[in-house]
Amino acid sequence: MAKKVLVTGGCGFIGVNFVRLVLEAREDWEIVNLDKLTYAGNLRSLDGVADNPRHHFVKGDICDQHLVESLFLEHDIDTVVHFAAESHVDRSITGPADFIRTNIFGTFTLLEAARKHWLDRPRQAGGDECCFLHVSTDEVYGSLGATGYFTELTAYDPRSPYSASKASSDHLVRSYFHTYGLPILITNCSNNYGPFQFPEKLIPLAVNNALQGREVPVYGDGGNVRDWLYVQDHCEAIVRVLEKGVAGESYNIGGHNEKRNLEVAELLCDILDRKAGPLPSGQPRRQLITFVRDRLGHDRRYAIDAGKISSKLGWTPKMTFDVGLEKTVDWYLSNRTWLDAVVNGSYRQYYQQMYANR
Ligand code: NAD
Ligand code: DAU
Repeated sequence: MAKKVLVTGGCGFIGVNFVRLVLEAREDWEIVNLDKLTYAGNLRSLDGVADNPRHHFVKGDICDQHLVESLFLEHDIDTVVHFAAESHVDRSITGPADFIRTNIFGTFTLLEAARKHWLDRPRQAGGDECCFLHVSTDEVYGSLGATGYFTELTAYDPRSPYSASKASSDHLVRSYFHTYGLPILITNCSNNYGPFQFPEKLIPLAVNNALQGREVPVYGDGGNVRDWLYVQDHCEAIVRVLEKGVAGESYNIGGHNEKRNLEVAELLCDILDRKAGPLPSGQPRRQLITFVRDRLGHDRRYAIDAGKISSKLGWTPKMTFDVGLEKTVDWYLSNRTWLDAVVNGSYRQYYQQMYANR
């Protein structure tokens, strides 16, 4: 069915993969892509699709009430897919203010605009055909020990300013369903990886450093576990939830790929040795792995039980971690211009601030 979708954060990592998927796979969906272009947003990631007549880019802030309301009116938006956020845990530890503003107040601003546009005035389409899909994270559930999984019923227990701001926004979104009847959906997914990820996150950071023969920093003892989800699998899951999900419900999305961080770093070094040739020193890249001071409040393990989305909506991830990691490395190797452009002056400053003397 035709949709007019407001995608927020459509120039970030998951957002660009979602925009690309939808433009290709849903010919009757139109996208309004609202993105502030923070350090994490990159118009170059939309090269080749930005000019598609079904894609309209708007540079702006989700906290700008006037702008958000005018977009709902101008484009008669019936669907919101809300990715825009401050997303990096380490940055939330050194500077939480932007996380509170964008992740909480920004979500509130979007919810208010949706409420006004969908519920306060009669629409031709009718309220039932509208949908506000909020993209959230498994980090809202806290940290696991060696066993167990997060289900949709796991109690929220966020432990970083980032995850606390995402948990707040999830609560707000759910409250608009119960209080006003706004048709909402929430997805909570695990760690994504794949093309277009900004190299502040573990996988692209390790690829970039190992490629250049620089240290690959692993926090603490390297034993923290993440459940890796290939970004295209995630985007397909979001489309499935939009098309088949039940309003008011949340769905966990995971990759069934639990790995320790050290193992991920080692695998990446091995793949790069094979694909990028040896370092000038001749040393294997594994020797670049360096244990550094741990992240404050570092969650030990995340693992998703994706049974609900599998049984109710028929979605399961397609990508295995071995193949996904190879494809990801291939993408960075074939897109050196993209990578070199993002590790520019401000990135070098960030890297220095986070990793010098760590
Ligand atoms: P990202 O940091 O790569 O991109 C965020 C995008 O939002 C950027 O394009 C940025 O410019 C934009 N943005 C930030 N503040 C904005 C504002 N005030 N107004 C408008 N645009 C703004 O993030 P990502 O990794 O693509 O994550 C997308 C969403 O998915 C986030 O909500 C995140 O919490 C969630 N999530 C991410 C992961 C992951 O592994 N990356 C996992 C689970 C959930
Ligand atoms: O679980 C979902 C979350 O995954 C999302 O909600 C976040 O937006 C996303 O950033 C990601 O959070 P993490 O903190 O898990 O991702 P990150 O890539 O920053 O770190 C992954 C693991 O690797 C984590 O245990 C910390 C560790 N790490 C990270 C970096 C950047 C290192 O050991 N070294 C590093 O240099």
